Amino acid sequence: MKVTVVGAGAVGATTADNIARAALCQELVLLDIKEGLAEGKAQDMMQTAALLGFDTRITGSTNDYSKTAGSSVVVITSGIPRKPGMTREELIGTNAGIVKGVCENILKYSPDAIIIVISNPMDTMTYLALQSTGLPKNRIIGMGGTLDSSRFKYQLSQHLGCSPSDLNAVVVGGHGDTTMIPLIRLATWNSVPVTKFLSEDQQKQIVADTMVGGATLTKLIGTSAWYAPGAAGAALVESIVRDEKKLFTCCVSLEGEYGQKDICLGVPVTIGKNGWEKILDFDLNEEEKSLFNKSAEAVRTMNDVLKTL
Ligand code: 2OP
Repeated sequence: MKVTVVGAGAVGATTADNIARAALCQELVLLDIKEGLAEGKAQDMMQTAALLGFDTRITGSTNDYSKTAGSSVVVITSGIPRKPGMTREELIGTNAGIVKGVCENILKYSPDAIIIVISNPMDTMTYLALQSTGLPKNRIIGMGGTLDSSRFKYQLSQHLGCSPSDLNAVVVGGHGDTTMIPLIRLATWNSVPVTKFLSEDQQKQIVADTMVGGATLTKLIGTSAWYAPGAAGAALVESIVRDEKKLFTCCVSLEGEYGQKDICLGVPVTIGKNGWEKILDFDLNEEEKSLFNKSAEAVRTMNDVLKTL
């Protein structure tokens, strides 16, 4: 099994590090356009193999896509990250061209790959990957909701004083500060609704903090975050290569589910050897439905920008 991570910046390298530590594949390729960066980070990671005890062989490549040939899964993290005060949407002009080019190069050498998109603005980049490659919809997966749901569990755990891994909670909709929808009504603490333990004010605070989770970190760090995005990317790779069929919120092509079509948006899906396999299409309440439609509208406006580039 071979996996490629495109982009050896902080998110790409952390995704690769998590993949190697969990020995999810025999061969892992890290690729970047910056001369030597991927080779250097790949070597640095390989020098942890003896200490951590993994057998994945990691190689780096400066823009030589022939090295990625035969990859089953490709994670795209390329593009510029946001700076403090920037929205993810402001990155579209630069990142659209990059993501489109990466998809073309990848498919030349790995025509059967499942593609995971992490680059921002993630919902639009996922839509672009689907449109520009013409691949079957199940093979294009946007990572955003997986990360946002994990951040939601973190925020909940802080108020509940519990382990984030004991929580079930999903964020649907877009991966933007104003487009994501943390579904607190449905969140549970080992199957008990969390709303039983939280005041209205606390619930509002948790939802608000989750929505600006990425922006808060960008402000603190000076660039966008990487530990949780990298862990989220690797979790999706794991569910694919081990055919786990785990449930994640991912940005996928909707064809009538949740009342939307011709758009990629975050919804709960199972992830397995075929990419995303099944959408859990359940009834949102009226308020959630209206937020979902608003989120779709905002993402659609962003998708329309692609036509002008
Ligand atoms: C984030 O939210 C990188 O979009 C990513 O941190």
